[in-house]
Amino acid sequence: MPTRYPPIVPRYFHFLHGADYNPEQWIDTPEIWDEDMRLMKLANCNVMTMGVFSWVSLEPAEGVFTFGWLDAAMDRLANNNAFAVLATPSSSRPAWLSAGYPEVARVKSDRRRMMHGGRHFHCYTSPIFREKVGAINRKLAERYKDHPALVAWHVCNEYGGECHCDLCQQAFRAWLRERYHDDLDALNKAWWAPFWSHTYTEWSQIESPGELGHVVLHGLNLDWKRFVTHQTIDFFKRECKPLRELTPQVPVTTNFMTNCPGIDYWKFADAVDVVSWDSYPNYHDRDDTWKGAALQSFLHDLTRCLKRGKPFMQMESTPSAANWNPINKLKRPGVHQTEMLQAVAHGADTIQYFQWRKNRGNAEKFHGAVVDHCGHENTRVFRDAAAIGGLLQKLDPVIGTSREAEVAVLFDWENGWIIDDIKGPRNENKKYLETCVAHYREFWSRGVPVDIVGEEGDFSKYRLLIAPMLYMLRPGVADRIIYFVNNGGVFVTTYLSGIADESDLCFLGGWPGPLRKLLGIWTEEIDALYDDESVSIVPVKRNAAGLSGIYKARLFCDLIHAEGARVLAKYRSEFYAGRPALTCNAYGKGEAWYIASRNDERFHADFLGNLISRLKLRRVIAANLPGGVTAQMRSDGTREFIFLLNFTRKPHEIEIGARACTNMQTEKKAGPIVKLSGYGSAVLMRELKAV
Ligand code: GAL
Repeated sequence: MPTRYPPIVPRYFHFLHGADYNPEQWIDTPEIWDEDMRLMKLANCNVMTMGVFSWVSLEPAEGVFTFGWLDAAMDRLANNNAFAVLATPSSSRPAWLSAGYPEVARVKSDRRRMMHGGRHFHCYTSPIFREKVGAINRKLAERYKDHPALVAWHVCNEYGGECHCDLCQQAFRAWLRERYHDDLDALNKAWWAPFWSHTYTEWSQIESPGELGHVVLHGLNLDWKRFVTHQTIDFFKRECKPLRELTPQVPVTTNFMTNCPGIDYWKFADAVDVVSWDSYPNYHDRDDTWKGAALQSFLHDLTRCLKRGKPFMQMESTPSAANWNPINKLKRPGVHQTEMLQAVAHGADTIQYFQWRKNRGNAEKFHGAVVDHCGHENTRVFRDAAAIGGLLQKLDPVIGTSREAEVAVLFDWENGWIIDDIKGPRNENKKYLETCVAHYREFWSRGVPVDIVGEEGDFSKYRLLIAPMLYMLRPGVADRIIYFVNNGGVFVTTYLSGIADESDLCFLGGWPGPLRKLLGIWTEEIDALYDDESVSIVPVKRNAAGLSGIYKARLFCDLIHAEGARVLAKYRSEFYAGRPALTCNAYGKGEAWYIASRNDERFHADFLGNLISRLKLRRVIAANLPGGVTAQMRSDGTREFIFLLNFTRKPHEIEIGARACTNMQTEKKAGPIVKLSGYGSAVLMRELKAV
């Protein structure tokens, strides 16, 4: 059943709408401070994120604090009925700190220490850095703990990267000793260390991987990445200590980069109170814009599922163009509203931007902002931001609502790391995330809600589990998949699955390893194709998979044997013509499918479309959606909130059926047809009743 979660800000049942705000950069222009307050109201903003990069403005010399400007900015927000998401400033430190304590600077994987400057250049192990961060965080918490503007802590900024200094090497070894119960032999076994004579005889010989050596031990590479996640979370927890102690009622978050491979957010999410992320799709005026939209929806769903469905914060997004893409196109009319509603549709309860006001100098002066250099409200971007702020005020009933999915796509950071690292059968274009999204997109296009789960996720509440390229199976995962299918679940996996364990040691006795019996197949070999090659696939007659005509496979083709599974499609070309390309094995009360090759979009559409109809998976609206349009839904158990989002430049008419709906924007009755302009969107509310 859908549930209603408490709002992110206790007792504030409204959307937060706002931006990163840097008043310290405008300290000499008090008239701009005044103007900001006027403009924030006009833009329907009720929250500002402050202090993200303000360390030197708060502590210009060691132990000398200058909170006056932040006091004034916090007071102004409170006096204007607005809130502050207050950041801890650790992501860029003052020059005095770097000069006084060289150990705080990060050492890159080539073992060179970084210079001062930029951001994200600290060592997260350094006791001195931890102490200095702890001190400024404590000062912030002490000073603002009772401030009426404070609604959430934004700890650091986009934690990422790794440090290879001596302190980190020591911490890595200590972490390994714990992981392998002080048993070096166990580590050597897990890392298959006799390979190229890598066996370690002392813990002190172990070093983090870097380009100057060591890249061949996949177990080491994997463990290093696990350690980086561990150490980042450990540093985060250290940052949070004074905040949790002094402001236990204030939720703590840090802005994730859910689209990036560096950190295992399945683990990090447990350490935050609310998940937030920075969403920067690049919707431009191209025919395939909508494919990027499906990726963004996947990432929003992933973000929501990190906390098992609890609403999240969209901490950053751009009000117009970003400045770091090779080409930064302006948002086309309509795109801003649709992009923001997309986040809400997937579970965001806040809409925040980077940035409030364009700064005058340096790297981000051309990055989109609500207020441009012209300084007034008469701009297209300002009007767009104000409009979405106004619309959010009408969406109060959506706050805290949840999403229910019968389908889950399995996406796992560790699995992605190892797929990137393996050598062979292809060393480029492996595209794990993209492959997960290619499967997800078929559900997105049909308005079927989807959850994303990691390997440790709870599969039992789904009817269909799709696990593309499930190369690594950590202990217990195969058993839980088998249990899921045995109890009636439908499982779909693909080529490059069931190959290795959590140390990247290949399963012996035939792939897909512990899933072999469940899938009823044996993968004997994997063929890698050149980018411009394809292999034809032909379905068997009267197949139950909804397939017809000839499909194209590219890049990966497993050569499998059916060992009890039904064959529903076969390769038609290459020396493996006639061998199975798609199989289904009945197992317990469920079934397990194996897609042996990376297939074209038409295959995904036919195969997954057929599964959707055969399993009668719940769709948000019954009618077929035009290409590039999605329908998503949130619910509180009594009402449903339907988001229709058009990511094409063409207008579309969507048939929503006869049930009474209200358009929450116009506050008028909607349906049975809803018209969407190019890049247009609508939010509808209806009483809950099964479709
Ligand atoms: C984010 C970062 C912001 C800002 C933004 C620009 O990654 O957190 O501080 O730099 O990018 O798009």
